[in-house]
Amino acid sequence: MADASFAALMIREEATGPDRVRVVSLGPADLMEGEVEVEVAWSSLNYKDALAVTGGGRILRHSPLVGGIDAAGRVVASASAEFPVGAEVIVTGCGLGEFHHGGFAGRIRVPADWVVPMPEGMDAEQAMLLGTAGFTAAMAVSRFELNRQDPSAGPILVTGASGGVGCLTVNILASRGFEVVALSGKPALSDWLKSLGAAEVLDRAAMPLGKRPLESARWAGAVDLVGGELLSSLVRSIRPWGNVVSIGLAGGADLHTTVMPFILRGVSILGLSSARCPRDWRLALWERLASDLRPPKLSEVHTGTVGLNELMDVSLRMLAGRTHGRILVRPC
Ligand SMILES: NC(=O)c1ccc[n+]([C@@H]2O[C@H](COP(=O)([O-])OP(=O)(O)OC[C@H]3O[C@@H](n4cnc5c(N)ncnc54)[C@H](OP(=O)(O)O)[C@@H]3O)[C@@H](O)[C@H]2O)c1
Repeated sequence: MADASFAALMIREEATGPDRVRVVSLGPADLMEGEVEVEVAWSSLNYKDALAVTGGGRILRHSPLVGGIDAAGRVVASASAEFPVGAEVIVTGCGLGEFHHGGFAGRIRVPADWVVPMPEGMDAEQAMLLGTAGFTAAMAVSRFELNRQDPSAGPILVTGASGGVGCLTVNILASRGFEVVALSGKPALSDWLKSLGAAEVLDRAAMPLGKRPLESARWAGAVDLVGGELLSSLVRSIRPWGNVVSIGLAGGADLHTTVMPFILRGVSILGLSSARCPRDWRLALWERLASDLRPPKLSEVHTGTVGLNELMDVSLRMLAGRTHGRILVRPC
């Protein structure tokens, strides 16, 4: 078992054309350093993966590299007493698929302190339906809690709502008693977003983007996956003491603001880096994703399952805004 070959999606950052991304056969000797070797049952596709696979953004800090920032499966070799052979585990972020061979492979080998024990009541498929997207959604809720965002303060706007992070954030926040308004570029998905808990769905194309230092205070808080002009406008429209969790840049990396929302309304922008989450917080959030932060409609966010050979095509569709929900990756 320990010497079996396996398929992997190898990315050569510097290459062009069909040589850039290939499915190759590797053996355990090809894997990088680490105490825990895992047979990967499931991985998943995140925006960062789509950027890495297509070369649409500089994600890889090592080349060639096996892509995939998420993996879940069973330990097959271990030098860690904490994770014996046979243990079910999750690895997300930490550098997987960025500078360390990632989860788009039948096997990974990683440092033990990247590994999370599978929470009771969760399996590898559910863990990867969540993946970095679900973990990020849970972290956003935790950021809200730590900065006193209370459901009674009013509606929360979730931007990029049909995407992986967005739809899971809608579902978790709604299950926690927040009134959630979903902003989406895909109004045709309104019924689906409402089934996940959105009280209302707004069309991104019709969203007014105010430019004054302060606009009327419409939202009690926001979770933003889009960035750019939309985030700049949102910060001006948050009620006193509200929070905006800034997560993504699907619409741009710029942020233009004055200090007015901060000094006159006490508004906070809360940053979030899921890949760099401290280990104790990471372990606690995964436990919560199996309990009080478990998205009640998790199976309804599953919109597709692909193999390694289909990853280029689905990544291009994701970057073009033509996917929604969560896409599982079967690496073998
Ligand atoms: N900070 C972190 O740790 C962290 C972790 C995970 C993800 N992220 C970031 O969060 C964002 C979402 O990630 P994801 O995995 O959920 O990706 P995703 O599934 O592709 O979702 C992105 C969503 O953003 C919206 N969108 C796409 N292109 C857009 C554009 N040009 N302008 C405005 N909105 C656009 C779309 O939603 P609608 O059509 O519904 O509007 C799309 O479904 C990405 O920027 C990703 O890099 C950051």
